[in-house]
Amino acid sequence: MRAMVVRKYGAPEVFEPREVPDPQPKAGEALIRVKTIGVNFADLLQRMGIYPGTPKPPFVPGLEIAGVVEKIAESGGKPAEGEPLRAGEAVVAFTQFNAYAAWAAVPVRQVYRLPAGMPFDDAAAIPVNYLTAYHSMFAMGNLQSGDRVLVHGAAGGVGVAAVQLARARGLVIFGTAGPTKQEYLRKIGVDHAIDYEKNDFVEVVRKFAPDGIEMVMDPIGGKCFSRSYKCLGPTGRLVVYGLSAAAGPDGKRSLTRGLTTLAQIPRFHPMKLMSDNISVIGVNLGRLLSRGAMLRGELDEIFRMYATGKIKPVIGKSFPLVEAAAAHRYIQERKNIGKVILTVK
Ligand SMILES: NC(=O)c1ccc[n+]([C@@H]2O[C@H](COP(=O)([O-])OP(=O)(O)OC[C@H]3O[C@@H](n4cnc5c(N)ncnc54)[C@H](OP(=O)(O)O)[C@@H]3O)[C@@H](O)[C@H]2O)c1
Repeated sequence: MRAMVVRKYGAPEVFEPREVPDPQPKAGEALIRVKTIGVNFADLLQRMGIYPGTPKPPFVPGLEIAGVVEKIAESGGKPAEGEPLRAGEAVVAFTQFNAYAAWAAVPVRQVYRLPAGMPFDDAAAIPVNYLTAYHSMFAMGNLQSGDRVLVHGAAGGVGVAAVQLARARGLVIFGTAGPTKQEYLRKIGVDHAIDYEKNDFVEVVRKFAPDGIEMVMDPIGGKCFSRSYKCLGPTGRLVVYGLSAAAGPDGKRSLTRGLTTLAQIPRFHPMKLMSDNISVIGVNLGRLLSRGAMLRGELDEIFRMYATGKIKPVIGKSFPLVEAAAAHRYIQERKNIGKVILTVK
């Protein structure tokens, strides 16, 4: 089958289209004909070789696909929602690498049946982005209507999902993004759009919320974590779920940048957390896949919100699979608004 292979760690040019053996599903796995692939920032980190658990090159990256079940391997097991999957059903699935290809073999517990009528483009844009945002803000963070949340990278994949979910639940939204995306933030309902090149986000938050806010969603990392902490008031929750700061503009692995970013991460002393009444919440969706029933419940709620029009994935740009390098460059150059997807013909 055709796949996009990372032949060595590095800039987007390391992608190479190759014919690789078709995946052979083992017991408990579904063979899926891939239609669309969600491109995540984590894929860029995989390509650079700085994402935890990335295989040695050559490898096929990627974390999520939408497509059609071709067959279930014998004693195939049950998906998280109970009803056995059948050939021909439309699904989304978490892959843990091996997504940038025409076919994928995926453990059935990581496969979720799509609601009737959901296009594959929307489907591939939902699992990672919306589950990360939903799990952080409502499952772990227990945010309530009227609470105030700051979303970093609010025009990106997880960012737009977080803003839509926050709006649907009546939250007050602060959002950061680069200068060209400010108007878009206001359009999607960010109450306080912050251009991080022009303004200090701590000052903006404290201006409108002198007592501090209830949550910051921070995937930037490094010194950003301490600044995000400064935005919080009593009962505040800092959700740490990424380290974008470790990825430089050239798309290459840099030991110096990586070590500097790590060194800038603050240590949160439990006694200080207690005295400030603040929680630090870590979220890593990739390490939650064993909690299939929990994710299923959260995804069901997200699908319900989709069905009632409360959320709608924003596909910033769609590339054919063979243009995976261009898709990565697009995100790396910070051009994307919402989700980037790859399509398989
Ligand atoms: N822990 C989890 O389970 C989990 C799940 C999903 C995503 N994440 C993390 O969440 C973050 C967002 O992921 P995403 O897939 O939705 O990506 P995304 O936000 O669409 O990523 C691209 C955007 O990030 C911003 N950005 C900030 N620092 C950057 C840098 N050093 N290089 C390039 N862009 C940078 C840019 O927006 P501006 O122009 O506004 O700066 C850019 O457009 C990533 O850190 C990702 O690893 C974590």
